[in-house]
Amino acid sequence: MSRPPEPSVHVALDAEGTTSSLVADVRRGLGSVPRTLPPKWLYDDCGSELFDQITRLPEYYPTEAERRLLAQHAADVVRETAASTLVELGSGTSDKTRTLLDAFTEGGILRRFVPVDVSEATLRSAASMLVQRYPGLTVEPLVGDFTLHLGHLPSGDRKVVAFLGGTIGNFYVEERAAFLGALADSLAPGDFLLLGTDVVKDADRLVAAYNDSAGVTEAFVTNSLAVLNRELGADFDLDAFTYVPFWDPAMERMDLRLRAETPQRVTLPGADLVVELAAGEEIRVEISTKFRPDQLRDELAAAGFATDHLWTDGDFALTLARRLP
Ligand code: SAH
Ligand code: TRP
Repeated sequence: MSRPPEPSVHVALDAEGTTSSLVADVRRGLGSVPRTLPPKWLYDDCGSELFDQITRLPEYYPTEAERRLLAQHAADVVRETAASTLVELGSGTSDKTRTLLDAFTEGGILRRFVPVDVSEATLRSAASMLVQRYPGLTVEPLVGDFTLHLGHLPSGDRKVVAFLGGTIGNFYVEERAAFLGALADSLAPGDFLLLGTDVVKDADRLVAAYNDSAGVTEAFVTNSLAVLNRELGADFDLDAFTYVPFWDPAMERMDLRLRAETPQRVTLPGADLVVELAAGEEIRVEISTKFRPDQLRDELAAAGFATDHLWTDGDFALTLARRLP
């Protein structure tokens, strides 16, 4: 049997651009108070592997909740969108996406799948797997940043853009509005967005989902400091930091931080930066915003999307929205 060809990967992120954007992000985020780190740097090879483990933790309910919603509604998505191209932003392993691809292969006219991710190794291995599994499908992976490279998405045929895993919740409010606006601009009227969002719920379950007993999430968050040590020659002492995840009820989001237990003087030669952290000072590594259905519909409408369906089991929501003319 002949093997399917390796997919040809389009790389919009070059190593030099990546380093200069890391330097800019780090200067902006760590160089001012309150200290923050931009989340896309969580997903180096080690971080992507740890995230994959997170999706299998018993406490991390979103992955299985979203998988069930996809299984229940994949046929509706196929029928209602009649898309020939499926794009997936922040695709990672595209594991749950197979549910959609199966339904599209069975009942649809899908020709092309375009997974987009900053994590090149994860994207390449996911793409090779998909090429084997879906011989009739053209897989065109894009190594890129979904906040910068939406202009590289294919145009001309009917598209669905899937943005799953609650990743939209990792943007700050203003970034989220900017992202949705840019996404709407990059789509043609009649294209679709399939959006997975986590739902506001009991704080205990939320905190458990981001503070698992096996310590995988802590390792994932702490790995961001290891990325800075490697990429910028920084000297973070990983053992000096404690993982502090908490629910912010006013902002309705999880706030995931690392706290320096003792004063830390950190040198980051690659960013030409020295950071003095006081004892107890925290670095926010990530937020994960949770949504209410009405708020989602309003935000989508403000960006130019009409919500055709909002499917939810109460824990997680899957929204199919249409780009308005
Ligand atoms: N969609 C998968 C993975 C979610 S984790 C799921 O639902 O399980 C978030 C994914 O988005 C990671 O694979 C990470 O590498 C990617 N990512 C994070 N920031 C990104 C950015 N700015 N541009 C492109 N991909 C990004
Ligand atoms: N999009 C995922 C979420 O918000 C990302 C994620 C899961 C995450 N667990 C995490 C990010 C822990 C930082 C830390 O749920």
